[in-house]
Amino acid sequence: MRASLAALVLAVMMLGGTPAVGQNTSPTGSNPTAQSVTEEQVLSEFRRAAGHISIPDQRAAVLIQPQGRDYQSFHEVVLPWVGGLIIILALLAVIGFYWYRGTIELERPPTGVTVKRFSIVERLFHWTMATSFIVLAITGLNYVFGKRILFPLIGPDAFATWTQWAKYIHNAFAWPFLVAVLGVLVMWIRDNLPDRYDAEWLRRFGGFMSHESVRAGRFNAGQKITFWIVVLFGGTLIVTGLVLLFPFLLFGINGMQIFQYIHAITAMVMIGIIIGHIYIGTLGMQGAFQAMSTGDVDLEWAREHHGAWADEVQPRDRGRPPIGGAVPAE
Ligand code: HEM
Repeated sequence: MRASLAALVLAVMMLGGTPAVGQNTSPTGSNPTAQSVTEEQVLSEFRRAAGHISIPDQRAAVLIQPQGRDYQSFHEVVLPWVGGLIIILALLAVIGFYWYRGTIELERPPTGVTVKRFSIVERLFHWTMATSFIVLAITGLNYVFGKRILFPLIGPDAFATWTQWAKYIHNAFAWPFLVAVLGVLVMWIRDNLPDRYDAEWLRRFGGFMSHESVRAGRFNAGQKITFWIVVLFGGTLIVTGLVLLFPFLLFGINGMQIFQYIHAITAMVMIGIIIGHIYIGTLGMQGAFQAMSTGDVDLEWAREHHGAWADEVQPRDRGRPPIGGAVPAE
């Protein structure tokens, strides 16, 4: 502690200045330039330790500040623990759900008649958003867990090269993610507004546990929640990410630290939610992945999972035989 204090005081003196607030003594009697003062006293009594410098970049005059230590403990302790916990809980939740419920399959056999669920443009935006988010998540997690997990496995040279590229990639993939989130917002906002089926769908959790078919429009209440989380959390990630991408453009170091707190925690929560989304879009529900890959679903799938939407699109599916007789009244 003494050694680091001596380094601090020496550095302040070398910069030709004194701590920004107060002179030799403080109201509590400590003397920041004396050998006996502790680093904690300096940091708790002064907003920051700053000197005078002659180089053009005046930001370099701030040597150390208490907020920097809060930030460091957030980045080194809170974030890895909270983030790790969120990801582990999300993985345990999908494993538990799969163990309890298994893949959600159709209750009746498929009809063989397909209906168009997603156009090529919708799929293009979805997969751009999905790919860029996954790349952003992997490269972003490297900031937090890379040195703890990867570094011991691959060694310093490979880790340094990977981390440098990961940073470039993280910065670059922010742009396709931004475009895709905006596209998804515009394309799907109408179908994600609340409707009369949502409350019942939520109350019965889509009938997933009771093996019942619960009526829903094009998107059910669970998907609407996913959509709004993607838009709001994705939007937050974009705004905070842009602030960090252009350092000191709008905010000083303290402002950027706050944006970093928000960016990192939002990212961890969204990664946890997307783990659940990827599960239900692949292993969790029969026929879901097909909807987003080919764009088509079987009419029976549409009826069981999105009955009200199926009734809307079926009459438009001209030239195909009507299935199951008349469309039931609402
Ligand atoms: C491997 C990764 C992914 C897979 C397999 C996947 C799969 C799917 C599928 C199958 C659907 C359509 C469900 C339906 O027909 O009703 C869908 C919809 C959607 N996806 Fe993904 N997705 C992935 C990644 C992502 C990511 C990373 C995001 C956001 C960052 C995302 C956001 C959405 C949204 C907002 C919807 C519409 C609402 C919903 O169905 O929940 N997806 N996805």
